Amino acid sequence: MPLLLVASPKGGVGKTTVSAGLADAFARAGRRVIALDLDPQNALRLHFGVPVQDHTGFVVALPRGADWRAFLRPTESGVLLLPHGGCDLRSALDLHAAIGREPDLLAAPVRQMLAESGTIVVADLPPGASPVLAALAPLASLVLVVLLPDSASTALLPEISQGRFLGRGTLAALGAPPLYVVLNQVDHASALSRRTAEAVARHLGPRLLGAIAREDSVPEALAWQRPLLRHAPGSAAARDLADLSAAVLPLLQPTTAPAPAAAAAPPILGIG
Ligand SMILES: Nc1ncnc2c1ncn2[C@@H]1O[C@H](COP(=O)(O)OP(=O)(O)OP(=O)(O)O)[C@@H](O)[C@H]1O
Ligand SMILES: [Mg+2]
Repeated sequence: MPLLLVASPKGGVGKTTVSAGLADAFARAGRRVIALDLDPQNALRLHFGVPVQDHTGFVVALPRGADWRAFLRPTESGVLLLPHGGCDLRSALDLHAAIGREPDLLAAPVRQMLAESGTIVVADLPPGASPVLAALAPLASLVLVVLLPDSASTALLPEISQGRFLGRGTLAALGAPPLYVVLNQVDHASALSRRTAEAVARHLGPRLLGAIAREDSVPEALAWQRPLLRHAPGSAAARDLADLSAAVLPLLQPTTAPAPAAAAAPPILGIG
């Protein structure tokens, strides 16, 4: 079943907001959804009503070999939440080092989640390159990169459009999941924001899957600790999020396209 990684080379661009919004939108579309927080900030839970004082979570329990099922939290929106869990700087570093040494520490339980029929796993990643991204990219159906319509983001576009964000060289090209971009916080009132968004759209073409308006309804939804589509369903940002989820969902379906005609391709000796 599909794994959607929400990632970015940049921090503070809206990865957690988009992860929570998409997980909620998929649940509204009738899908079983696990929202997995892989960022030591432990912030995804806040979008689903978990009290700030509640620090329990799955990822911090990984080194103990804990069963992820024991950490699943049902939420009002129907999303099954797997919080990261609270941790200090030292344990966050230790955890990343352990996943760097042994990617299966994280990849094995995520494979089990993906084996559950009909389930979409939406994973919120920490900013930038991380052992978590390296461990899960080979399992992902799609990587959604969140960027802002600003110069710091556009400076990173070549790294993203040439695939370097997920690795280098031919091996990365063979193993890398499809990568798409969403532009978040497009400010309709700012000429620079609009012009930058238009330039990004021209540069990325179909790789740009969506754009979300900058709006107070988004931080307000977080302050109320509920997903945006629930908090302000009529807002422009909520409509943009719904459009994004409608664009992402079909890309998460297993492909049903018929295999290419055998005559068109040369034989691959021994294996096909
Ligand atoms: N479309 C939007 N309009 C207005 N504010 C937004 C929008 N999207 C996100 N924000 C706000 O921007 C801030 C950062 O968002 P978020 O935490 O989702 O980013 P992030 O990429 O997950 O950050 P980090 O790299 O720290 O994990 C939050 O305060 C959020 O409410
Ligand atoms: Mg975040």
